Amino acid sequence: MSKSRVDASVLAAPVGFFDSGVGGLSVMQAARRILPHEDLVYFADSAHCPYGSKGGDFVRQRALSISRFLLERGAKAVVVACNSASEAALEFLRLTFPDLEIVGVEPAVKVAQRLSKNKKIGVLGTALTLKGRRFSRLLENFSCGMEVYTQPVAGLVELIEEGRFDSPRTSAILKKNLRPLLDKGIDTLVLGCTHYPLIKETIGAICGPRVEVIDTGEPVARQLWRRLVSTGRLNPGPGEGQSEYFSSGAAAAVTPVMRKIMADPALVVHQSPV
Ligand code: DGL
Repeated sequence: MSKSRVDASVLAAPVGFFDSGVGGLSVMQAARRILPHEDLVYFADSAHCPYGSKGGDFVRQRALSISRFLLERGAKAVVVACNSASEAALEFLRLTFPDLEIVGVEPAVKVAQRLSKNKKIGVLGTALTLKGRRFSRLLENFSCGMEVYTQPVAGLVELIEEGRFDSPRTSAILKKNLRPLLDKGIDTLVLGCTHYPLIKETIGAICGPRVEVIDTGEPVARQLWRRLVSTGRLNPGPGEGQSEYFSSGAAAAVTPVMRKIMADPALVVHQSPV
């Protein structure tokens, strides 16, 4: 879309975000800081969470249905705030909606390459992300001269969905999955799933002060800002942007967890079927 053709209704249109559940809120938090005037619409696919243990075709279909829903809400851009869905569906969504601005996420291997001093990094993610072609291409392009250790994690996303950010079970799963990476002497840990920044403190406490823990919320929000600016779609304000929350799961279960994460009193609307 050229800058000259953008009208006021597009500037005021919301930006859509989606994830298998509450994880993408770690990206939306950063977007709220960087884009204070934008209306944001979040969709948590809680009824189909987790994505990471499912097949690519299933996740692509979910991504398609949810993107259509966000477009119906008038979204001028969609952020695939999920590594697993970005792995499975980003290219497909861009082909399906060529006029829509679509921003994806990926594990922050490039940032880790810059920050790591001993050039040993670990990546925690879902099986779907770490087995994927997009992730292998990322490693081919950006892991030169580094030792990269990957660890697919099972069972953690479900606990985060229940709001159990620092329960004994959460710590036990983390310790089991971090041990092999810490034993390799990593000095940088990449959080390759948007749920994990929500428990960054618990992860940091296990890793200790010598390991830098990095996530992608800020860089993705900055990329979104750049895309909105370069296509002339950034809402210049002065009004304060509003946030809306939808979920394919039960609103009563999802609302308290979202409220734990977001500063605003998130009121989730159940949306079914999408
Ligand atoms: N938050 C997601 C990700 O970044 C999805 C995790 C899952 O549903 O398994 O991969």
